[in-house]
Amino acid sequence: MGKDNFKSKLGIIAATAGSAVGLGNLWGFPYKAGENGGGTFVLIYLLCVVFVGMPVMLSEFIIGRAGQGGPIGSVTKLDGEKSKFLSASYLGTLTSFFILSFYCVIAGWALNYFCTYLAPGFSVFADGNSGEIFGATISDFSTSTFYQIAFMLMTLGVVILGIKNGIEKLTKIMMPVLFGIILLMVFYNFTLSGFGEAVNFLFIPKPPADGSSIFSIAIAALGQAFFSLSIGMGAVITYAQYVDKKEDLSKITFSVVIADTLVAILAGLAIFPIIFSTPGLEPSEGAGLAFVSLTAGFSNMPFGHIIGVIFFALLVIAALTSSVSLLENIVVAVMEKGKLNRKTATFLAAGAATFVGLFCQIGANFQFPLLNFAANSTLIDQLDAFTMQWTIPIGAFIFSIFTGYRLKPEIVREQINNDKIANIFIPYVKVVIPVAIACIFIFGIIG
Ligand code: TRP
Repeated sequence: MGKDNFKSKLGIIAATAGSAVGLGNLWGFPYKAGENGGGTFVLIYLLCVVFVGMPVMLSEFIIGRAGQGGPIGSVTKLDGEKSKFLSASYLGTLTSFFILSFYCVIAGWALNYFCTYLAPGFSVFADGNSGEIFGATISDFSTSTFYQIAFMLMTLGVVILGIKNGIEKLTKIMMPVLFGIILLMVFYNFTLSGFGEAVNFLFIPKPPADGSSIFSIAIAALGQAFFSLSIGMGAVITYAQYVDKKEDLSKITFSVVIADTLVAILAGLAIFPIIFSTPGLEPSEGAGLAFVSLTAGFSNMPFGHIIGVIFFALLVIAALTSSVSLLENIVVAVMEKGKLNRKTATFLAAGAATFVGLFCQIGANFQFPLLNFAANSTLIDQLDAFTMQWTIPIGAFIFSIFTGYRLKPEIVREQINNDKIANIFIPYVKVVIPVAIACIFIFGIIG
């Protein structure tokens, strides 16, 4: 029997774009843009995506298709069992595990809100109490755990079915639905008074109002760009092994980057007009933007209730097409190292991530020992900061060094299969990418 490869090019793009488009776009991007002054953040974000993110994604595609394994299997095959570059593979697996742990908790909140909005006789979220409702939602341990586990079970169900029958089928159906929903929201927002202000906020770069340094914005933007593209942890390597030899990796990379960026921008246009049209709401609300501000906005607008159902459906769909990729990345590592079958590996990985997720529900007042990546915050914020500012850029750095210096140029050329692109890509991945990541990283630490 052949390998469980993707059936079509559209399937590859849907799956990889599904991996990229997630809570990072719909929840993270708008709130980080809001916190970091809007236009300036968006501009630096776009530069990071095009000039750093896209080549790193192509590197991962090359490693995975050449190595025919996950990050561990591919690096082992291409560089031997003692390869130092395996450090990035293990780090990437761990990063995926941490992200999956808290991802299912946040997706669980979204699922909870979706069900709340869907309930007959819906009456909550009257003016002014959306903050309290959110607080009550996240501190209700048993309900949150219920939704966290429900979401994890959906993820697990898809991953057990494998690539062709699970991940490809899910993402091929869900990604167009997701695009449709978000476009619908943006069209609706055209009618709101705050649309112009939102466009101005998102697209006109201004000096940061609170005087935060351009470097701190750049770090936030780079971390967000990597996180959003699902790069730096080998998740793209894992998918790349299922990509047929005849497919053009540069084109696929380009399509995925466009899709991911488009959804981030559209998410801004789906959220900020509502914020700017509702008196009392601020774009710099922070992590509560989607759950607190937006729901307050919904309760103030015509058809707000229906928009609420639609928005949280969108969030759950986007989260699911990402969580399957996170779980797949861990499952492949467990299968490769533990010599287990897919089913056992999936149950093990999902169970362990659910367990860590439970600790993510402990409130902000509890300081976990040794963890101080984000001040006074929950385990979610800690893991988010730890992965986004540390393990992801480090992983991306090592994978690009691997592609630039360790992989034979013939292999890189053969995978890219386009001399013009290869001639630019090889020196670029050797010099520009590592220098760019290192600079932003070091300035971030100093800052
Ligand atoms: N890109 C996803 C998002 O924007 C999150 C994510 C980060 C991810 N790393 C990943 C998803 C690896 C799948 C695999 O929400």
